[in-house]
Amino acid sequence: MKAFIFALFFVSTVALAEDTRQLAKLPEPAQESLRQEMLDNLVAVNEVLSLMAAGKVREAGEAAEAKLGMSAMGKHRSKPFDARPGPHMPPAMHGIGMDGHKAVSEFAAVAKTGDRDKALALLPNLTAACVGCHFSYRTR
Ligand code: HEC
Repeated sequence: MKAFIFALFFVSTVALAEDTRQLAKLPEPAQESLRQEMLDNLVAVNEVLSLMAAGKVREAGEAAEAKLGMSAMGKHRSKPFDARPGPHMPPAMHGIGMDGHKAVSEFAAVAKTGDRDKALALLPNLTAACVGCHFSYRTR
């Protein structure tokens, strides 16, 4: 995963000159659902980081699983089809999202045991998919 992030730095210098990210056209309501989920993601990442910094490793694991892990998947399932972001994403983009939930759950499972060092080693699992998706796709 580290090599992947480094590769993204090279891509980013090119992307600055011209936005080469793939455009994923989502219906307006799906885009709106996604935007709200993203803002919630941002708050959740900050919460997990704050709990880790405070030494509340188990609580960090609980929050990560509930808000960003596999437990947080399917939030839009009961919405009208047009308002569900997942089914309108290119499969590879949707895959990055699902892999991200899985990666967070890996971190969460370790953090829930209270093992701070092992949890810290997996902390980048929290944000790797955010970076991966944002550097590859845009919706406008
Ligand atoms: C599968 C792809 C994907 C993943 C994974 C992803 N995002 Fe996003 N994110 C998007 C897209 C697409 C947008 C643009 C939405 C729009 O059209 O405004 C976005 C927008 C955002 C925004 C801007 C919201 C606004 O105010 O408009 C924030 C903040 C954000 N994401 C945070 C995160 C964080 C934090 C994570 C990881 C926990 C994450 N994202 C993971 C695709 C993704």
